[in-house]
Amino acid sequence: MGNTFLNLSLLIIFHFYMPTFSMKLTTILTDQSALLALKDHVIHDPKNVLTTNWSASAPVCNWFGVSCGSKHRKVTALNLTGLGLVGTLPPHIGNLSFLSFLRIRSNSFRGKLPVQLSNLHRLKILNFGNLSKLEILSLFETRISGSIPSSIFNISSLQNIYLNNNMLSGFIPSVPRDLLLLEGIDFNFNNLSGHIPEDMFDHLPNLKELTLSVNLLSGRIPASLFKCKELQKLSLSYNQMEGSLPIEIGNLSMLQHIYIGQNHFEGNIC
Ligand SMILES: *[C@@H]1O[C@H](CO)[C@@H](O)[C@H](O)[C@H]1NC(C)=O
Ligand SMILES: *[C@@H]1O[C@H](CO)[C@@H](O)[C@H](O)[C@H]1NC(C)=O
Ligand SMILES: *[C@@H]1O[C@H](CO)[C@@H](O)[C@H](O)[C@H]1NC(C)=O
Ligand SMILES: *[C@@H]1O[C@H](CO)[C@@H](O)[C@H](O)[C@H]1NC(C)=O
Ligand SMILES: *[C@@H]1O[C@H](CO)[C@@H](O)[C@H](O)[C@H]1NC(C)=O
Ligand SMILES: *[C@@H]1O[C@H](CO)[C@@H](O)[C@H](O)[C@H]1NC(C)=O
Ligand SMILES: *[C@@H]1O[C@H](CO)[C@@H](O)[C@H](O)[C@H]1NC(C)=O
Repeated sequence: MGNTFLNLSLLIIFHFYMPTFSMKLTTILTDQSALLALKDHVIHDPKNVLTTNWSASAPVCNWFGVSCGSKHRKVTALNLTGLGLVGTLPPHIGNLSFLSFLRIRSNSFRGKLPVQLSNLHRLKILNFGNLSKLEILSLFETRISGSIPSSIFNISSLQNIYLNNNMLSGFIPSVPRDLLLLEGIDFNFNNLSGHIPEDMFDHLPNLKELTLSVNLLSGRIPASLFKCKELQKLSLSYNQMEGSLPIEIGNLSMLQHIYIGQNHFEGNIC
């Protein structure tokens, strides 16, 4: 923390004497402090990547796993896949205002998803999912938990959201606005409960994959699902859902994979 403060002060002094670049420095400084906050929240870095590479003496855009826009030089992508990091996610992640791709799967971030993630209006891919089997076995208690922030579906730039293989509980939030780009939702292997919101699919015309299997979901398949004309994969297996499979399922002409086993569905599949 002391180091961070020192480096920030140096940058602020630098900024002072270089007024022409003040905008640039201010914004990349925000990104730098957000990433340093993330580094501070990592308590175990088995490959020593952040420890050795994320140094405030090197430009943020050269840090491992960080990509920046070619013109504005703000952080646009963060890929920490497979580093085996253990820690928590600080709210500062919500300050990476140009972030489009956040890939941090196969790490062990415990605690909650910061609600500030929904500040990221350019976010296209949010991938916290797919923690490896090993981590699930050996670091079982270090995975993200809590509920999915209700504002997560307020990010209109979202294309894919992977929160699979975590310990999320509570309800699936409703979708308050049209998400025209959203193609994939994967909440597989969590402890989500309650009904799928009735109007969930009113705003997802381009959804191609919906994976909600291995949760504690109850209730029926919402009729609004049949508005997702592009749907190719529907996976609801291993839940406690009930009712019959509506005949309209036949109207989803793109549907190739349906997994609905291990529920309490009844009646015929037409
Ligand atoms: C940090 O990692 C990047 C990407 O692998 C590399 O290009 C850079 O030289 C590294 N910097 C330091 C200080 O190790
Ligand atoms: C993310 O990082 C992993 C491991 O370093 C790499 O295999 C993968 O290709 C990267 N993905 C992207 C989209 O850059
Ligand atoms: C970034 O986010 C944190 C927590 O959400 C906040 O306290 C901080 O003031 C923000 N701004 C900057 C410029 O770091
Ligand atoms: C998750 O891992 C499985 C194999 O364990 C793989 O088939 C699947 O494509 C992965 N999904 C994502 C979103 O990375
Ligand atoms: C969604 O975003 C808009 C602004 O883009 C904001 O006014 C609204 O409060 C947000 N709603 C939720 C549920 O976060
Ligand atoms: C779901 O909750 C139960 C009971 O609280 C717990 O035993 C189980 O490990 C949880 N599973 C996941 C995937 O979080
Ligand atoms: C489903 O398709 C049939 C014709 O095949 C049509 O009559 C019906 O209105 C469609 N239903 C929905 C909900 O789109």
